[in-house]
Amino acid sequence: MSTDVIVLAAGKGTRMYSDQPKVLHQLAGKPMLRHVLDAAAAIGADTIHLVTGYQSQQVKAYFDSNPVATPLNWVEQAEQLGTGHAVMQAAPAVDDDKTVLVLYGDVPLITPASLQRLREKADITGIAVLTLVTDNPTGLGRIIRNDSGDITAIVEEKDASAEQKKVTEINTGIMAFNAGRLKSWLSSLTTANAQGEYYLTDTVAIACHDGCKVSGLQAHDENEVQGVNNRLQLADLERSYQITQARQLALQGVTVRDPARLDIRGELQLGRDVSIDVNVIFEGINRIGDRVSVGPNVTLINSDIGDDCVVLANSHIEGAKLSSACTIGPFARLRPGTELGNNAKVGNFVETKKATLGAGSKVNHLSYIGDANVAENVNIGAGTITCNYDGVNKHQTTIEAGVFVGSNTALVAPVTIGRDATIGAGSVVTADVPAQSLAVARGRQKNIDGWKRPIKK
Ligand code: UD1
Ligand code: CA
Repeated sequence: MSTDVIVLAAGKGTRMYSDQPKVLHQLAGKPMLRHVLDAAAAIGADTIHLVTGYQSQQVKAYFDSNPVATPLNWVEQAEQLGTGHAVMQAAPAVDDDKTVLVLYGDVPLITPASLQRLREKADITGIAVLTLVTDNPTGLGRIIRNDSGDITAIVEEKDASAEQKKVTEINTGIMAFNAGRLKSWLSSLTTANAQGEYYLTDTVAIACHDGCKVSGLQAHDENEVQGVNNRLQLADLERSYQITQARQLALQGVTVRDPARLDIRGELQLGRDVSIDVNVIFEGINRIGDRVSVGPNVTLINSDIGDDCVVLANSHIEGAKLSSACTIGPFARLRPGTELGNNAKVGNFVETKKATLGAGSKVNHLSYIGDANVAENVNIGAGTITCNYDGVNKHQTTIEAGVFVGSNTALVAPVTIGRDATIGAGSVVTADVPAQSLAVARGRQKNIDGWKRPIKK
């Protein structure tokens, strides 16, 4: 049956103490609401009705610049009069014959698999609730079952009797309905309860009265249905999520030195026999080849690392593409547009930006190589700087194959160093250097015989 999804995200998120809407706070590098919408998209929702209120402009701005494939219907809930009221705002836009899933924008780790199973149950009975059996039900709606075990009601904590509060099966908030029936049940909601709100959960008792069986589906993973109300819950959920990912990688053949000290914020594709040391962060989309070793405290952002590369400790690599068997770091910084050929080396305290290094070329220490095209088998000595910026424009440095650049050289761009040329240490190179020649651009050494040092009186 075709499906629409309603996502409730109008809440203020008071306990985040933030100027940003709660649902835009990130988990694993992605806003919580984005996780929810991606799950909705993954089960093939036709339309996602997004109920927003507090700072909805910021939420809109995010999705304008980071669109989802599924069409969004923006629904404004000006006053937050309860979950039932929120769903009432969106329901008229849903066709009666559809199945509709209600999700929360602050329950980020819900999986498409659970949504799929919940939907299948609602397709049969007209209404299904995702529940959780927990040791800590305080504050949550309790699932009330009759003697035959059928769900007859959900009672909120504030409305519950002492007996009902003992129930350990709670409402996760995630529900599925036949849309036509949901609409009729919504029209019977009242605010006659302890909080004076329209409770979506009251649809359960109303459905029962209608002679409708209410299906329950118990979640097995607490994280999947964990809501986030404050930044501690967000941090705890992030950690559980990261540990789960790291453990999975270890089971899939990755050497993860410590699953508690790895962060993957985005998509990661790993080859065989990859080893990852502690405190490594992957952000965005990264692809790592076979037998790559990543040292401790390395950050990798949107990069492509070829087979057999070694990334040593404390390196920061962003927007870079490495061929095979490159060695990076320790303490290297590769900025966007860095492309390295096979066996290239970028060593300690070297920064590269928009720079190509050919196969076998080396920049081993203390250099800045920016806006540069360096061919194969070039050796760039310690302290070499490409002076790429004249204060207004950026200029290109070209270094042909086999060049040897002596230490502490300034290459004032635009400049070209011809094939197999040699640059003397300490040169300031302002003009092109012909192939095979030696360029020395510094004061000549003068030795003074018998030099007497000043004497202390
Ligand atoms: C709700 C459920 C409760 C369940 C709990 C799980 C009801 C009446 N109660 O509790 O059974 O155990 O979730 O966390 O449904 N929202 C709106 N507009 C509103 C009210 C809420 O968009 O007018 C959104 C919030 O932003 C949030 C979600 O709905 O994402 C849940 O609201 P919240 O107030 O946290 O839930 P409770 O009412 O405490
Ligand atoms: Ca809540």
